[in-house]
Amino acid sequence: MNHIVIISSSVRLKRASNRVALYFKNYIEENKLASAEILDLNEYQFPIFNERLKLQVNPSVQTLAFAEKIKLANGVVIVTPEYNGGYPAALKNVIDLLYDEWHRKPIAISTVSAGGFGGTQVITSLQFTLWKIRAWTVPAMFPVPKVQEMFDEMGNPTDKITMDKKAEAFIKELLWCMEAKEKMSI
Ligand SMILES: Cc1cc2nc3c(=O)[nH]c(=O)nc-3n(C[C@H](O)[C@H](O)[C@H](O)COP(=O)(O)O)c2cc1C
Repeated sequence: MNHIVIISSSVRLKRASNRVALYFKNYIEENKLASAEILDLNEYQFPIFNERLKLQVNPSVQTLAFAEKIKLANGVVIVTPEYNGGYPAALKNVIDLLYDEWHRKPIAISTVSAGGFGGTQVITSLQFTLWKIRAWTVPAMFPVPKVQEMFDEMGNPTDKITMDKKAEAFIKELLWCMEAKEKMSI
């Protein structure tokens, strides 16, 4: 079975975007689309980047474990909040940490905001960075505006039918890219 990792990028105390990460895990498992796992950057608490993993002399066990999870994932969903028009430092921290692990990795991006625009201004900067690192970003969007109204703390959507319909289209694109990659054996 394919394995999807979901990166929950906010390390903020009262974060809300983690609700979206919880939702994706539930959605993927409920519909038996793949196995799913959340990589919670708040749990990892990585120190501020000072060197790429491949050049580190004594990498931490945690860093190695994180790298292995990205390497082995068939696909990745990044859930990111919008902070001042960009994505959080915690996310840039782990993108820069790895290199080959990101290569041709199918990645779908979900942006989240408390306001009405769903964090969509994050897309261009995050997609550019992922392109630079040679990942394969999926051409589908999953913007979540007014996140506190859309999901409860357990990741249950207020309007499950509408949310699942959106998720279906979004995850379908990711699965297509995962399958295409598998077929090419690359
Ligand atoms: C430093 C900071 C900057 C923010 N900038 C924006 C912004 O530019 N646009 C926006 O819609 N929301 C912005 N927000 C609100 C977030 O979208 C909101 O906190 C949302 O819940 C997602 O982030 P969270 O997972 O950390 O809670 C900002 C929040 C913080 C903490």
